[in-house]
Amino acid sequence: MTEELHDVRLTVNGHTHEIRVPARRLLSDALRHDLRLTGTHVGCEHGVCGACTVLVDGAPTRACLMFAVSAVDTEITTVEGLTNPDGSLGPVQQAFKECHGLQCGFCTPGFLTTITAGLRDNPTPTHEEARDMIAGNLCRCTGYQNIVKAVERAAELS
Ligand code: FES
Ligand code: FES
Repeated sequence: MTEELHDVRLTVNGHTHEIRVPARRLLSDALRHDLRLTGTHVGCEHGVCGACTVLVDGAPTRACLMFAVSAVDTEITTVEGLTNPDGSLGPVQQAFKECHGLQCGFCTPGFLTTITAGLRDNPTPTHEEARDMIAGNLCRCTGYQNIVKAVERAAELS
């Protein structure tokens, strides 16, 4: 039996896209495979690691737990949308660069989106609050210390 396809309009990083997808197409797959926005990484596919985190109407959201059809009429921001308007690195990206907040980079897009939302809600986090801000994202490489430093540096740059 052929799977029924649905017309879905997604607004991602300020651009509107029309795609035809099955009802159970994950938002992470729609972003990566239909829109070719491969900056959103997929690790566990179970909502645990945070690598796939994007902003949906500004809220950090596991794209591997959301269907693309559920994202209609929302504003999605992926890591590709975190640069400054002139294309230079945005403050959180710049802070990661300065503080060596990444090694393999697999987890990084999810941290960048999470921290972007976290600093919007709390622009001057304490050290503990900076740690709490990233508590839901997993990184196998860095030991987290430089990521916490990057949160604090991004707060200075923002
Ligand atoms: S891939 Fe979505 S939380 Fe791990
Ligand atoms: S930098 Fe490798 S998983 Fe975080």
